[in-house]
Amino acid sequence: MAKIVFYDTTELDKQHLSKHLETTDHNWDYVDAKITDDNIDPDAEVISVFVTCVVTRRMIDRMPKLKLIACRSTGFNNVDLEAAESNGVIVVNVPTYGESTVAEYAFTLLLGLVRKLPQTLHESLDTQQTDLIGRDLYGKTFGVIGTGHIGQKAIHIAKGFGMQVVAYDPFPNEQAAADLGFSYKELDEVAAVSDYISLHAPFTQQTHHLVNTEFLEKMKDSAILVNTARGELVDTKALIMSLHEKKIAGAALDVVEGESVANYEEEVALLRRDQIPPDDLLHSVEINTLEKMPNVLVTPHNAFNTIEAIERINSTTAQNIITYWYGETPNRVKAPEKTMGKLFMVRHTESEWNATGQWTGSRDVHLSENGFREAALVGHEMVKLGVTFDISFCSEQIRTLETLEAILNSTSQLDVPLKRAGELNERDYGDYTGMNKFEVRDKVGEEQWNAIRRGWDVAVPNGETLRHVYERVIPYFEGQILPYLREGKNVLLVAHGNSLRALIKFIEDIPDHDVAELEMLFGDIVNYQIDELGKLVSKAVTHVDFTVLNKYKENSLEASRNIG
Ligand code: NAI
Repeated sequence: MAKIVFYDTTELDKQHLSKHLETTDHNWDYVDAKITDDNIDPDAEVISVFVTCVVTRRMIDRMPKLKLIACRSTGFNNVDLEAAESNGVIVVNVPTYGESTVAEYAFTLLLGLVRKLPQTLHESLDTQQTDLIGRDLYGKTFGVIGTGHIGQKAIHIAKGFGMQVVAYDPFPNEQAAADLGFSYKELDEVAAVSDYISLHAPFTQQTHHLVNTEFLEKMKDSAILVNTARGELVDTKALIMSLHEKKIAGAALDVVEGESVANYEEEVALLRRDQIPPDDLLHSVEINTLEKMPNVLVTPHNAFNTIEAIERINSTTAQNIITYWYGETPNRVKAPEKTMGKLFMVRHTESEWNATGQWTGSRDVHLSENGFREAALVGHEMVKLGVTFDISFCSEQIRTLETLEAILNSTSQLDVPLKRAGELNERDYGDYTGMNKFEVRDKVGEEQWNAIRRGWDVAVPNGETLRHVYERVIPYFEGQILPYLREGKNVLLVAHGNSLRALIKFIEDIPDHDVAELEMLFGDIVNYQIDELGKLVSKAVTHVDFTVLNKYKENSLEASRNIG
């Protein structure tokens, strides 16, 4: 016998749920409001929530008897799944209550928008309005993002309207494509060829802002976007800009970012706070703007809302709870495996002192003319690798910044955020700074020279050893860079021979006595896939051939001879 609390319930929910549970000996309560820190029941063994309820780690921690969270929805991104898992709480959902229900609604929205239904409702019957001219669905191309349960139903309906269908899904269902008569394309192509695009993918790390400026720019200027999936799939600000600048023709949205705070109670609660969180403020302005736009329909997350669908939601939820007590969890959901971002490491390109063979260390020296060209070439190679970066890091020294900017410039990614850190600086070569490396060799002898250059803990007078560099680089990497990689972000790091050797030693667990063998060559792009702790999973090295730049060097020499 379990203590169950159902949150955010309507009268219809109560009728359905009571009917299904009345033959059991469970105890249950209904709370009409959404779950909050104030109305959680510390004795609850089961809670059941609708999508509008956000279940946080804090709430889960404060319900020590909790065993099961039964989502009365398909989507479950409103529940902190990691917190549930770490507290031993199982989460179940209703996988398929309303594929037709939601797909039908996507077409309700699409037809409402293309046939200007809201505007026609305000006209009297004898009006002949030319500005009520709409558009057909017949003969048009319908693009579907996400071909699961709902996506396939939407395709079925689109076919009934006589549309061609193209779709994108990272896990294509070729059988469905053959049965329903549609073809899979790359995401960009779906954006480019579709007249109407309908989103039916879940909200995950990968689908966050899947519809962004880049996607919207690929769309036809006559195209319409329909979103009945999750608001977070669309960068709302980018969407508003596209609509405003008439780069796309319209949007019909049943879900929008920030919808959970877009109601009177939440807004008053926000205004009571000393500071409104910037995201809430932004989403509030966005929703307000969308509602004023003539080519936009916004509905309040209503696609699921039919009597039949609600009955299916409630009966499956009741079954989920009942069968859990018999040890069965057929509709269990789990936190998706996190994908780590990729780490790309590049050594700064030729500096003015590299060109003359001087040890630069902590001295600030600009790139040479050739160094700028080399950095641009590295950028071109990155384009071939098809990498996009979410964040970039370099040292405080100008040669890494110049290299980084030239790379980002070549990849058209100059807007990638940048962090500069002294911890990533080159090893301080102390008294040998500025000396030609062969001068140093003649001064200290070949063996000591090699030990200083390559060894793990060999001191330079008044300078650093590689161990010192390691001791500043690794805490910075673990504290500042690794969190981005854990969030799935791709990181570009431009640093120095020694700061990168320190990092390679850490990532690849290279013993102290083997660091002499460790190289980070000019022109190498090292692409690491690492685990949560920052340790090696796989490594790929692309070497950029700088010899193609020799012709420029010769030209420069020729030019300077002529000037001389
Ligand atoms: P489903 O799990 O059957 O299908 C989702 C599909 O999306 C799968 O084929 C999956 O491979 C695909 N997908 C995953 N990552 C993708 C990506 N990066 N790009 C493109 N496709 C990707 O889910 P179902 O039942 O079709 O529901 C889809 C979504 O609809 C739900 O996750 C939920 O967020 C939303 N929904 C909205 C409702 C509303 O009232 N507005 C009601 C019910 C669901």
